[in-house]
Amino acid sequence: MATIFSGVKPTGIPTLGNYLGALKHFVTYQEEHDCYFCVVNQHAITVPQDKLELRDNSRKLAALYLASGIDSDKSTLFIQSEVPAHTKMGWIMQCISYIGELERMTQFKDKSQNRVGVSSGLLTYPPLMAADILLYGTDIVPVGDDQKQHLELTRDLAERFNKQYNDIFTIPEVHIPKVGARIMDLGDPTKKMSKSDENSSGFISMLDDEKIIRKKIMRATTDSDATVKYDKENKPGVANLLTIYSLCSGKSIEQVEAEYEGKGYGDFKEGVAEAVIGQLKPIQDRYYQLLDSDELDDILDKGAEKAAFVANKMLAKAERAMGLERKRKKK
Ligand code: TYM
Repeated sequence: MATIFSGVKPTGIPTLGNYLGALKHFVTYQEEHDCYFCVVNQHAITVPQDKLELRDNSRKLAALYLASGIDSDKSTLFIQSEVPAHTKMGWIMQCISYIGELERMTQFKDKSQNRVGVSSGLLTYPPLMAADILLYGTDIVPVGDDQKQHLELTRDLAERFNKQYNDIFTIPEVHIPKVGARIMDLGDPTKKMSKSDENSSGFISMLDDEKIIRKKIMRATTDSDATVKYDKENKPGVANLLTIYSLCSGKSIEQVEAEYEGKGYGDFKEGVAEAVIGQLKPIQDRYYQLLDSDELDDILDKGAEKAAFVANKMLAKAERAMGLERKRKKK
């Protein structure tokens, strides 16, 4: 049985990209593996957040994990800030990271660009992410394409620590889905769909209603060619919609291409919208039931307790290896 860990930031409602690139896959691991899924709220505060929104979004995200099929009897679901071992291990990871390697992270470069007053947390975000993963002896980290570089750093830090102090960390493997690892923006299909985008017409939120989903997909950028064909280079908009359709319907891209041969983009987009609604509607129904339930809080309480139990053991090992524990005087 392998140990699985992954996390999502509560910086808004997750998008269809977060769902298809990450959440949808999490469910497939829990039958046979020891899974930890985290609402990584401490990662969210690396850029300014409205406190009430952050608080509510954290709970909403937890409900969306469950509504997407995470089963609390099989997986441990918890909120990062409720398990203090994360920031303690995060500090250890920061102390073995080099500023140069953190400055080379593409997400740091993108997010710090044109921003006044870049927080040091934005730079030290990847060591905290490494801590999240390494605390649980994680074997596999399922994520979308954009997290690949952070995972490489996590592996480097684990190896560095093991070599320098004591061989305690498992070197985690990254699992990136073959299809859907990078769902693109609906308006500009050359950039990643992102929940922090200011223009909400480019992304589908997991809680968008049917009308909005239809509207956003009907307006999605395509091209003037009018053939439904997967060609990422020359037809990025259509390729993105084909990927979305395929993942939401379970049909292969070839099947969808055949289905729409000789038909225009209007018909195709209606099909995409139906497939997305078919995927998200049952999740939304479960989500609204869960959000106001005591069950959600019970699950998060138990999740934090279980996660802390496991994480504290690894933290103690790391602290011991570095000389951070106290050697008591013999009586
Ligand atoms: P976050 O919150 O940005 O994204 C959560 C997950 O969704 C994936 N994702 C996408 N997949 C496909 N297409 C997209 N357009 C798209 N946008 C996002 C991400 O790759 C991710 O898997 N640093 C992480 C959170 C984190 C974490 C961790 C993840 C913190 N600690 C430990 C794994 C393990 C992040 O910002 O995810």
